[in-house]
Parts: sequence; C-alpha cells; structure tokens
Amino acid sequence: MVSVSEVDLSVDVGGLHLRRPTLMASGCYGSGEEFALLAEPAGIGAIVLKSLTKEPRVGNPMPRLVHTPSGMLNAIGLANPGVDWYLEHEAVKLSSLPYAIVGSVAGFSVDEYRYVCERLAERSEIAAIELNVSCPNVASEGETFACDPELTARVVRAARATTRKPLIVKLSPNVTDITEVARGAEAAGADALAIVNTVRGMAIDVETWRPRLGNGAGGLSGPAIRPIAVLAVYEVARAVRVPIVGQGGIETLFDALEFFLAGASAIAIGTANFGDPRVPERIVTGLAEYLAERGLNSMSEIVGKAQPSRAERTWGATG
Ligand SMILES: Cc1cc2nc3c(=O)[nH]c(=O)nc-3n(C[C@H](O)[C@H](O)[C@H](O)COP(=O)(O)O)c2cc1C
Repeated sequence: MVSVSEVDLSVDVGGLHLRRPTLMASGCYGSGEEFALLAEPAGIGAIVLKSLTKEPRVGNPMPRLVHTPSGMLNAIGLANPGVDWYLEHEAVKLSSLPYAIVGSVAGFSVDEYRYVCERLAERSEIAAIELNVSCPNVASEGETFACDPELTARVVRAARATTRKPLIVKLSPNVTDITEVARGAEAAGADALAIVNTVRGMAIDVETWRPRLGNGAGGLSGPAIRPIAVLAVYEVARAVRVPIVGQGGIETLFDALEFFLAGASAIAIGTANFGDPRVPERIVTGLAEYLAERGLNSMSEIVGKAQPSRAERTWGATG
C-alpha cells in the first residue's frame, strides 16, 4: 500500500521542476494575487502570466467575454501593459510567491517575440518562458504563427537564441495537423509544448443580428473543447519526445487524469478558475489519493498510459 503522504506529485517540464503538476493557464490567473484570498497555494505548481507584448495594448472592444452552454468565448485582444512597464512595476512582487512563475510571450513579428523573450529571460523571478504563438504575423498577411510549422519554428529559434530557461511552446488546435507544428517547434528548440490554446468560435445576438463579441470572432475555452484538447495531446505525445502541458476544459480530477493518461506530464487550468478558484487544490488532493489507492507513488506511473502499443493502434473513420 502507498499512503497519500508518500505520493510524489513532482514533475519536470523541460527543465522546469514543479512540486505539483498543475499550472494556472495564461490569462486566467493574473500573477495569483487576485486569487490569494480565495484559494490555497497548495493547488499551484506554477502560474503562467498573462501574455506580454513589446508595446502596451488596450485590447479589443467590449464585450470581450461571452458565456456559452459549455464554455467561454473570449476576445481580450492581448490587453497588457507591455513587457518593459510590466517588468519595471510588477515583476518585483513575483519573487516572494510560493510557486514558479512562467512568463508568457506574444508578438506580431519574429523580432517582437525575440525582444519580449530577451527581456523576460533577464529576470530571475521568471523560471520559464511560454511562447503564445496564436498571434497573427503582420509580415505574412496576418497568418497565425501557430498555423504554420515554419513560422512557428522561426519564432522558437529566435526565442531559443535569447535564453537557456525552459521554453514552452503553446500550440493552437486551429490547424489540420497539430503534430506537424509540434515537430517543427521541437526541432527548433522547444523544451516542452503546451497543448492547446483556445478553439476559434463565434456567438451571434439574434436581436441585434451582430456577433456578441466586440471583436466578432473569439477563442472558445472550457469543457466544450476538452475532447479536442485530449486528442491533440494524445497525438502529439506520440509525435515528439518533449513533455506536454495539457490544457483545455479541465475542471475536475477526472478531466485532469484524461490528459495525464493521454501523455501530458503536467496540466494547466484556465477557465475553471473563474467559476471556482479551488479547482486546482481539489485536483492536486484528488490526484494524490488516486495514485495512492492504486499503489502508485509517482506521476510517471500514469503519464501516457492510455497510449496503445503499436499492435493495438486502430485509426478508423470517426462518423
Ligand atoms: C479570458 C482568457 C484569457 C486568455 N489569455 C491568454 C493569453 O494571454 N495567452 C495565452 O497563451 N492564452 C490565453 N488564454 C488561453 C488559456 O491560457 C488556455 O490555454 C485556454 O483557455 C484553454 O484552457 P481552459 O479551457 O482551461 O481555459 C486565455 C483564456 C481565457 C479564457
């Protein structure tokens, strides 16, 4: 028998060592202070900061959030104070936090990614860097970096040249074959992959006959996207060797377990925190119990265990 206290939940995400396999997803947790009175740090392995760009951004017109029956549509538009302002005024508070901080980088050109990475890499408060490549590239008619393996690889190479900190590349599910982009990111120097960002979507107001988001289209998150995200993790885990941070609609222990079993070494929790900031804590407690009940004492005993052996693989049509 294994007791709960003997279970080791620590994981290594491409050189980022975490006591617990739970990250708070970018844009959904600030740097933690808003949640400090509502949740225990015991649920948190790391916080991924809101994505930062080179220049300050006011973001998209309101409304920026729309609830849907099983998720949330958002079009925040990367509102942020810009990396220089953030580091000067906000970063100092990060050093006193009891968990790891991951900086998140967004950009509209390869040079912008390089600049923001360089700035974040200088700071000891930042343990790792996540590249949010779900942004349009102004140099190629607004094509999203994450939708093109070569564009993604260019961003990763530029970022890699700025830092030896663990580099996590966050991929978009809005592609035909996510494994192709994943391989490109790995070959360009990613230490880990975050899978997945939001799924593109829209809601329409039937009174005004206009899209309900100020921006028109947005990104869908929450339970609606979980099966999409689980499949993406499952497929990418077979295509690359680097660890995966699985995310998309995780609300409960069982949701989290799906991602671990599919091949994620860690998970990120986003939208669920808005409704219930104690979700991460419950997942961490439940995970230790789940492992102990089965006589298991480390995360490596469940990661990827839903993957079939070669002989078992059957890929048929789906409808
Ligand atoms: C309001 C909101 C803001 C977000 N902002 C960012 C962001 O700045 N950078 C980023 O990489 N992802 C951002 N995301 C995506 C989340 O980090 C997460 O990958 C996605 O929502 C899927 O996880 P979830 O279903 O648990 O929310 C945002 C999501 C939401 C709901």
